[in-house]
Amino acid sequence: MATESPVQSAGSPRWRSLPARLLIAGTVAAVGAFSALMVMPDANAAASTLGAAAAQSGRYFGTAIAAGRLSNSTYSTIAAREFNMVTAENEMKPDATQPNRGQFNFSAGDQIYNWATQRGIPVRGHTLAWHAQQPGWMQSMRGSTLRQAMIDHINGVMAHYRGKLHSWDVVNEAFNEDGSRRQSNLQGTGNDWIEVAFRTARAADPSTKLCYNDYNIENWSYGKTQGVYNMIRDFKSRGVPIDCVGLQTHFTGGSSLPGNFQTTLSSFAALGVDVLLTEVDVTNASTSQYAGLTQACLNVPRCIGITVWGVRDSDSWRASENPLLFDGNGNKKAAYTSVLNALNAAGPTPSSPGPSSSATPGTGNRIVGAQSGRCVDVPSASQNNGTRVQLYDCNGQSNQAWTLTSSRQLTVYGTRCLDAAGSGNGSAVQIYSCNGQANQQWNVNSNGTITGVQSGRCLDVWGTGNGQQIQIYDCNGQANQRFSLN
Ligand code: G3I
Repeated sequence: MATESPVQSAGSPRWRSLPARLLIAGTVAAVGAFSALMVMPDANAAASTLGAAAAQSGRYFGTAIAAGRLSNSTYSTIAAREFNMVTAENEMKPDATQPNRGQFNFSAGDQIYNWATQRGIPVRGHTLAWHAQQPGWMQSMRGSTLRQAMIDHINGVMAHYRGKLHSWDVVNEAFNEDGSRRQSNLQGTGNDWIEVAFRTARAADPSTKLCYNDYNIENWSYGKTQGVYNMIRDFKSRGVPIDCVGLQTHFTGGSSLPGNFQTTLSSFAALGVDVLLTEVDVTNASTSQYAGLTQACLNVPRCIGITVWGVRDSDSWRASENPLLFDGNGNKKAAYTSVLNALNAAGPTPSSPGPSSSATPGTGNRIVGAQSGRCVDVPSASQNNGTRVQLYDCNGQSNQAWTLTSSRQLTVYGTRCLDAAGSGNGSAVQIYSCNGQANQQWNVNSNGTITGVQSGRCLDVWGTGNGQQIQIYDCNGQANQRFSLN
């Protein structure tokens, strides 16, 4: 469920408030007269947080969160303000989620999930199958017993989070530096263990994106990068389900930004997977490396988001290298500014339009259902956060006038956004204060569907009559999921 977030959306309320007030009381004519004002973005507007700045080009900017730190107000204030994606740093790993065989424990993972969800921030799952951070009982397992335990673990954890997560790191760190497979108890169960993990994961939760995640795969000419690339190419050619690759991007411990980083990102993307920078940190937070890695992602359309591995330097697993964007007191560092500036320079006109968005941003549009001929309507012209939208006879009034922005929001009254209250099938579609987050971003597709960026699901309505509520649902190609923006 989305809640009001301090994250500022790309368009500031400053330029929206007057036309929004006028539109509330306005007539049809007034809608036309003021709609130009409503969508006139300030060309020089710069977003003031990392998440909002990334959202301008349809991306996210996330952080790893440790459940034990959420009670620290400096930490949680920065986290909620700056980031629009969250990864559990340790709390969704096998040792945390299945400490005893067959006994799952989601208390710490849920603490992070609930904290994020209450703030409208989507969550990445990390990680399901890994040689490290296995519970003791799993570490000693081998062969077919371990293979079954891995499958059971994936099924158990994904059932709990089914329909709730943006993506999962299904398999983590399975390669050696030379590109061969890492020897581990999992590898000992047979070379097909990774594809079995992905097939199991797809069946367990078809709604979430499935990623392979690793470190030292940032340099295109490195053996490990080629090993992972070849595996994903093979998976794609054989139909093994995989949606994304996570490059951890730890430029710490002796690593640094390679000159061919963008080549690596675009090469992975060309295989047909999304590319995510999942655990970024940089020794002494070099501004040039932070700006460079950010720009490389912005330059590759399928690089969909960046996550830093912690909030403040003191929260980092490599704290002595001061590798993050906030110092131990929570102050923004120079690297923060270099990242924010790079993100802002890419927006509000996206350097990379969304993978499937075909519509041109525009104002005062009706969203008309192909099956019903009726319009997407805010009941009683309510401006209350959480009001579910419905179908209603088209009447040209402001509660049916939607503006598609360059950051893929669909706004109404200037200040409210079409908002998915969840990402699972049947989640409500409502209006909510615009916050720049992925549950408020929509791809208007050339096939007539409108899909949620967070969920990948389609705007959908079960019936055709006045008052039928809109929801999101798995895209099925039927007329009740086709809408025209005109
Ligand atoms: O919670 C216990 C605490 O009770 C105990 O007193 C203390 C004593 O050592 O340990 C605490 O657990 C530590 C845990 O972090 C939480 O702080 C573990 O020892 C420590 O090993 C663990 O380190 C984590 C590491 O993964 C383990 O592999 C780091 O926080 C985490 O940032 C790091 O994350 C990994 C990614 O998952 C995968 N990629 C690399 C990345 C960095 O290593």
